[in-house]
Amino acid sequence: MRHLLTLFDLSPDEIQQIFALANELKMALERGERQPYLTGRVMGLLFEKPSLRTRVSFETAMAHLGGSSQFLGQDVGWGQRESVEDFARVLSQYVDIIVCRTRDHQRVEQLARHSSCSVINGLTSVSHPCQALADLFTLREVRGCLSNKTLAFIGDGNNVARSLAVACGKLGVHFVIASPPAYHIDKPFVDRLNDEFPKLELRTTDDPVCAVRDAVGVYTDVWASMGQEKEQETRKRDFRDYQVDGQLMAKAPSDAVFLHCLPAHRGEEVTDEVIDGPQSIVVQQAANRMHVQKGILAWLLGAKV
Ligand code: CP
Ligand code: NVA
Repeated sequence: MRHLLTLFDLSPDEIQQIFALANELKMALERGERQPYLTGRVMGLLFEKPSLRTRVSFETAMAHLGGSSQFLGQDVGWGQRESVEDFARVLSQYVDIIVCRTRDHQRVEQLARHSSCSVINGLTSVSHPCQALADLFTLREVRGCLSNKTLAFIGDGNNVARSLAVACGKLGVHFVIASPPAYHIDKPFVDRLNDEFPKLELRTTDDPVCAVRDAVGVYTDVWASMGQEKEQETRKRDFRDYQVDGQLMAKAPSDAVFLHCLPAHRGEEVTDEVIDGPQSIVVQQAANRMHVQKGILAWLLGAKV
């Protein structure tokens, strides 16, 4: 049984298998066909933080595949009414797969350790693997083969940035991240990336202009993630030179696309002009969350396709 807690859990071949399944299912849906690969399967969504995209795209994906889902909010009492071990052992008797969005990454690891079914990380403060898979799937859709091309990330070295860096390492994409010095991806993580992907061209810089110069995609995310609301004002000051605006996009190649995992804080990390402009692919990117998650579900549950 496999879990998807970070993208280190998947090999490059396995990512390609998920992309192939996602693509097949996306094409089928465009023809009006819904493939009942997961009839009777049940997904539990255990969420401690808000979500639009992750929750709804997973639930719809499962419904299209013939399965069903149960949304489990705070009232199930995870870690409060009973031990985490008992909770995981019992929940995994009822459902075939769990998608979990939680504050601490250790909680999703603990859940996986004691579950008898697969667990998918639907976002922790450390990583957001399903997001990064959908992002690279989308970038490949619009830009073709990504090998040796550069994805630039402008902003916080957060969960999304880390998952993108791993996805790029797995798929042979160069990754450059421009952050204020105090917000670079942490050193132990960079060391792990360099160990696992000696060929990964991973650059960290303080200079957004230098980061976007050769990029096929320019990506940003909020400056204060969920759980960092108290730092909002400090971060607004610290990141003020890291906004993706028209001027910065003009320094990237003219065919570079703009990506954002959403939700966006317009006027902070990105201007309306960019997010609503012709280079923006954020809606396609959000739509692909559902298609790629179908690929993840079908792959993890070993659907006979
Ligand atoms: N991008 C993303 O994960 O969005 P939600 O927080 O709405 O799920
Ligand atoms: N970095 C953001 C991503 C939201 C999808 C957060 O964790 O809040």
